[in-house]
Amino acid sequence: PDTAIIVVAAGSGTRLDAGAPKALVGIDAHSILRHALDGVFAAEPAQVIVVAPAGYEGDALAELDAAAGDRRDLGRVVVGGATRQQSVAAGLAALWGDVKTVLVHDAARALTPPAQIDAVARAVVPGEGVIPVLPVVDTLKKVAGGAVVSAVDRSELAAAQTPQGFPRAELEAAYEAARADGIEYTDDAALFAAAGHRIRHIEGSSRAFKITTPGDLERARHLLEASAA
Ligand code: C5P
Repeated sequence: PDTAIIVVAAGSGTRLDAGAPKALVGIDAHSILRHALDGVFAAEPAQVIVVAPAGYEGDALAELDAAAGDRRDLGRVVVGGATRQQSVAAGLAALWGDVKTVLVHDAARALTPPAQIDAVARAVVPGEGVIPVLPVVDTLKKVAGGAVVSAVDRSELAAAQTPQGFPRAELEAAYEAARADGIEYTDDAALFAAAGHRIRHIEGSSRAFKITTPGDLERARHLLEASAA
């Protein structure tokens, strides 16, 4: 396939406080990473690079084997870095063949619908990136030192999800530039935009929320129970 998806799963998950790297924490009988990979392999065929926490490569490989089925030859596991940006860079370095489009996906967005992955992949065009977003529902304030400084117009804002999709050559160059400049960006879209490229957005999904806190894990568990019933 000429599309690759880098699944970053090397975070420690301190906010989840589950005693294991977040991606390997169970939602139901299956881990966050396994659910994320089930979604990835239910999408159109793509090369799959799993970026694992150091010391957990074997666990990640087992999850890849279980999720991939007869597409096992499309997957690889590499070890991540200290920051998400370094983990994505490790994933980029592991691409092989003539991949033209790269999707970067958080394993922590374990229940992302396969249709969202396909929609992002299809929307990537030369020179431009694509991200899924959702409208912001909360009323947002700018705060500083215990005081509310100003209101923020939420109609101008959107919450970014993953996978985020990019043309490979431009993404690799943007990553190299960020490394050379020593700048850490909040997400791949910010890094890509800093290199002067345009980013478009498509509609995301509530199921693509990021599992961060114990409450998020509960939400994921309930969603799985509801879809099994
Ligand atoms: O910490 P947070 O949930 O924002 O991380 C988003 C994603 O990036 C997660 O899937 C996490 O595993 C991954 N990550 C990584 N390497 C890091 C930090 C985060 O692969 N050093």
